[in-house]
Amino acid sequence: MEGSASGVMARNVGAVWLPLVFGSLLLTSALGDRIKVGGNVGWTPNVMNYTEWAAKQHFYVGDWLYFVFDKHYYNVLEVNSSNYETCNDGEFITNITRGGRDVFQLNETRPYYFISSGGYCWNKMKMAINVQQHPTPAPSPSQSNSPPVMSPQSVSLSVVLVMALSAAFMFL
Ligand SMILES: *[C@@H]1O[C@H](CO)[C@@H](O)[C@H](O)[C@H]1NC(C)=O
Ligand SMILES: *[C@@H]1O[C@H](CO)[C@@H](O)[C@H](O)[C@H]1NC(C)=O
Ligand SMILES: *[C@@H]1O[C@H](CO)[C@@H](O)[C@H](O)[C@H]1NC(C)=O
Ligand SMILES: *[C@@H]1O[C@H](CO)[C@@H](O)[C@H](O)[C@H]1NC(C)=O
Repeated sequence: MEGSASGVMARNVGAVWLPLVFGSLLLTSALGDRIKVGGNVGWTPNVMNYTEWAAKQHFYVGDWLYFVFDKHYYNVLEVNSSNYETCNDGEFITNITRGGRDVFQLNETRPYYFISSGGYCWNKMKMAINVQQHPTPAPSPSQSNSPPVMSPQSVSLSVVLVMALSAAFMFL
């Protein structure tokens, strides 16, 4: 009798913890990833084709681009598509350059274009990327076994429940 009661209790704790863990993962992913441009190579001339590199990555709304470069030579400017094609740095949209370890958040689902000025755009320091909507964790046939998606409110509710259950255990 007592054994089965604590068994039920243990299952209840699992049922609370599992969504709590998944809820935290969802909250974490909602903050966006930081993606280092060019991987280990960073932002530098004549080493790689950044647009080809970018085509192999996934960029989602909320992600951050992380440009690492020598600020004495190079910079990072967001430009429009025509100025990207022609390496025109005179009419940039955003100057991302700060200290050479600079981040830029991708807030919209659209193509973004970046170049370095100082002539380095001609030396391959140019990148076009496409930003997608973050894949929704909504149920799909392949995910039918996933735990239910939790809102931040239900996550806090879970925290309260876990605290209540822990308190209850102390009296068992
Ligand atoms: C890019 O900006 C320039 C000047 O600001 C403008 O003349 C050009 O039409 C723009 N190109 C696009 C594709 O919007
Ligand atoms: C971009 O901003 C940096 C840091 O504020 C500044 O030093 C640089 O001159 C700016 N570049 C352009 C092209 O405006
Ligand atoms: C992106 O959105 C954040 C918060 O809404 C804002 O602070 C930031 O300036 C935006 N970044 C760009 C590049 O528009
Ligand atoms: C990068 O590769 C694409 C196609 O693979 C090409 O169209 C583009 O010109 C290349 N960019 C540079 C800067 O070499």
